[in-house]
Amino acid sequence: MNVAVMASGSGTNLQALLDSEAQGTLGAHIRLVISNRSQAGALERARRLGREALHLSPSQFASEGEYVTRLLDLLAGHSIGLVCLAGYLKMLPAAVVNAYAGRVLNIHPAPLPRFGGPGMFGEHVHRAVLASGVSHSGPTVHFVDQHYDTGPIAAHTPVPVLPGDTPETLAARVLQAEHRLYPRVVAAVAAGRLRLADGQVIGQLDAE
Ligand code: GRF
Repeated sequence: MNVAVMASGSGTNLQALLDSEAQGTLGAHIRLVISNRSQAGALERARRLGREALHLSPSQFASEGEYVTRLLDLLAGHSIGLVCLAGYLKMLPAAVVNAYAGRVLNIHPAPLPRFGGPGMFGEHVHRAVLASGVSHSGPTVHFVDQHYDTGPIAAHTPVPVLPGDTPETLAARVLQAEHRLYPRVVAAVAAGRLRLADGQVIGQLDAE
C-alpha cells in the first residue's frame, strides 16, 4: 500500500514510519510527503531518503476548490491508499476526507476526546493534561473525520504523568510512545487487520 504523510513540523513521526518501512515492519511504502510549510523538517527528512516531498499550502491557490483538486490529483497520481497526518496543523478539506473515508489517520499526543479539539496542539495539549491532574496521558491514533480530533479511535498507548513533569518532559515521553505506536497502527491498517466499517473500528494491533 502506498502512503502519503502530511506534516507541518520536524517530522519525527514521519521518521518513525520511514524507519519502520526500512526495517520491513511497516508493510507499506511512504511514497509522498506533503507539508504546508516549505521549511518543515519533515520535507527535508523525506528528501534525504529520496522520497518525493512537496510544499503544498492552501495559500498557494486562488480557491479552496483548486487546492482540493491538486491534492486529490496528487494522491490519485501516486496511487495513495492511506493518508497519515503526522503533526499536520491544517484541517484536511472535507472533500479529501470524504474521498479517502476510512483511509486517513492522525496521531494526537494525548487521550481523546478529552484533550483534543481546536487549539489543542503542541504544548497546549500537555499543559491541559498536567492541569487536569490525570495520572496518564499518551498518544492516540484515530481515523480522521471532518472535525479536529473527533474521529473513531484506532489505538492509544497510556503513558504515565510523573511528579514534577513539565509540558516539555511530558511531551518528550509521549513522543517516544508516538514513535512506537504510529508505525504499528499503519502496519495494521495496511495489512487490513484494522479498519473502519460503518464508523466503527474493527480489528486490532499486533502485540508489540
Ligand atoms: C506530535 O506530537 C503529534 O502527536 C502531533 O504533532 C507532533 C508532531 O511531531 N500531532 P513530529 O513533527 O512528528 O516530530
